Amino acid sequence: MNVQRLPADYTPSPSLLKGKTILVTGAGDGIGKAAALCFAEHGATVILLGRTESKLEAVYDAIEAAGHPKPALVEIDLAKVTEEQCMHLAQGLGEEFGHLDGLLHNASMLGERRPIESATFAAWQEVMQVNVNAQFVLTRYLLPLLQAAPSASVVCTSSGVGRTGRAFWGAYAVSKFATEGFMQVLSSELENTSNVRVNCINPGATNTVMRNTAYPAERPTDNPSPAEIMATYLYLMGEDSIGVTGVSFDAQ
Ligand SMILES: NC(=O)c1ccc[n+]([C@@H]2O[C@H](COP(=O)([O-])OP(=O)(O)OC[C@H]3O[C@@H](n4cnc5c(N)ncnc54)[C@H](OP(=O)(O)O)[C@@H]3O)[C@@H](O)[C@H]2O)c1
Repeated sequence: MNVQRLPADYTPSPSLLKGKTILVTGAGDGIGKAAALCFAEHGATVILLGRTESKLEAVYDAIEAAGHPKPALVEIDLAKVTEEQCMHLAQGLGEEFGHLDGLLHNASMLGERRPIESATFAAWQEVMQVNVNAQFVLTRYLLPLLQAAPSASVVCTSSGVGRTGRAFWGAYAVSKFATEGFMQVLSSELENTSNVRVNCINPGATNTVMRNTAYPAERPTDNPSPAEIMATYLYLMGEDSIGVTGVSFDAQ
């Protein structure tokens, strides 16, 4: 696995993403919300995808109030996403924007934290559905729009437990190994034939609902906020990373 970290002095241009259209999954909360706000601040038109309308609307309103490019909002529950929904989404985005410059697969669920010995099949399947299968089917149908862009970036979200397995992290850890694998396979397929680069980010410990659920004994503010880890996200979405593909980045 090719793991890298951005140089500490990387400074994105304030207009890094001007004119770009970027879809962010799980854009209503946590790291996805911070990424959506940050991409918009750097000039992108952001498509906010998530399952909770009120959270997406709050992000939409914040982007509008800041005077950034008008975003778009797509309410989809990835636990139930269908091929038809993805086809319809791709068609709608194609009609409105013509192409897609970026796709951040960020939405995930933690699922059960217990030994495989006592894990339930239903909870296992739900994690795999949201964290792995939804990522595949969205990519599958959005790829033509990404290939229609002058250069495009797909960023998948990994985790430390997606690189080295750890007891009791169950389906979540396995789903993140699968995410690393998905990124490598897709990157290898597109490397020499397309303008689409594909990489992973491991955000590292970040103060969000998911982190605080997984580590209830931690003091949340001991970890950086999502807004503080955005440099790697910007780098991978912007043209500074053209030519970089198949790499797993640590954001911290
Ligand atoms: N925070 C960390 O320390 C950390 C460390 C390593 C990796 N990560 C990864 O970073 C990414 C973001 O995590 P986070 O910490 O920001 O988590 P979070 O605060 O729990 O946010 C997750 C986002 O995903 C959305 N989501 C969950 N299930 C969904 C579904 N079925 N359909 C649509 N959207 C769904 C959530 O929507 P709702 O708000 O509507 O529930 C929320 O917007 C994840 O891939 C996570 O695995 C995080």
